[in-house]
Amino acid sequence: MSDDIEQKESKILAQFAKGVFSAGLLKQSCPDVPEVTVDVIRVEKLSETELEECLSLLDRNLGSIYALVNGKGWKKPKRKEMIEPGLVYVLLRAAGTNKLIGLISMKIVNEYDLKVLYLYEIQVDESCRNKKLGTFAMLQLDRLVLMINSSDKLKQLWLREYEGEYLGLHDPEILLTGVALTVFSVNKGARKLYQRLGYKLHPDSAKDRVLRSGKVIEPIYYMLEKSVKDSV
Ligand SMILES: CC(C)(COP(=O)(O)OP(=O)(O)OC[C@H]1O[C@@H](n2cnc3c(N)ncnc32)[C@H](O)[C@@H]1OP(=O)(O)O)[C@@H](O)C(=O)NCCC(=O)NCCS
Repeated sequence: MSDDIEQKESKILAQFAKGVFSAGLLKQSCPDVPEVTVDVIRVEKLSETELEECLSLLDRNLGSIYALVNGKGWKKPKRKEMIEPGLVYVLLRAAGTNKLIGLISMKIVNEYDLKVLYLYEIQVDESCRNKKLGTFAMLQLDRLVLMINSSDKLKQLWLREYEGEYLGLHDPEILLTGVALTVFSVNKGARKLYQRLGYKLHPDSAKDRVLRSGKVIEPIYYMLEKSVKDSV
């Protein structure tokens, strides 16, 4: 896939993300979260400082798991992944201090002959957890997919880019099939959240293995999905 279509898709994604991730909506849904500012930024506009802030939040939250799974040099490949073309960032900052208290990064990705909204990161600073910010963000992703699917923008782009072939492969009313993500098996808290919100194991996900003794061996991470059909 050319960078060009990734960029065009990310522009559409960012445009709709600005609507669903507004500070006003957030305030309404999460009244306990202190006042925040919200920025939606396409990866090519993300400054070096912003990238470092994101990496630092990720390190504070999950650094120990990353180090355990990928070794102590985990930051270098992660940093590279975090600047992948097509990514769109939503940055939440505490009004006043400007401290980064939450981030989401996402991208429209190919999944066989379909496309899905892939959540690369969701990170809430410890000081703001358990105030429904994570739930709000995840539910807004469902809305984002529904809004993108009910607008003509992506359909028109794909009709131009794929000359109609792409849309012919599946239901033309469903452009993005839903939301997908990856979660470490040891991250029981996040898994609980996703389960509560209706996420299921993706058919391509690594699965638990049950030994003859009955002991369950979990994979390092699971891939989860929520189909747009389950969000309506
Ligand atoms: C997962 C995360 C984004 C949730 O954000 P949040 O704003 O605290 O979420 P909410 O307040 O909406 O919901 C809290 C839910 O998170 C889950 N949860 C997260 N961490 C948990 C923990 N350590 N123990 C228990 N539950 C936890 C629970 O399901 C809880 O739901 P409940 O209130 O019904 O018990 C946040 O905990 C976080 O940033 N964690 C570190 C980074 C991370 O794990 N990201 C996900 C990577 S896949």
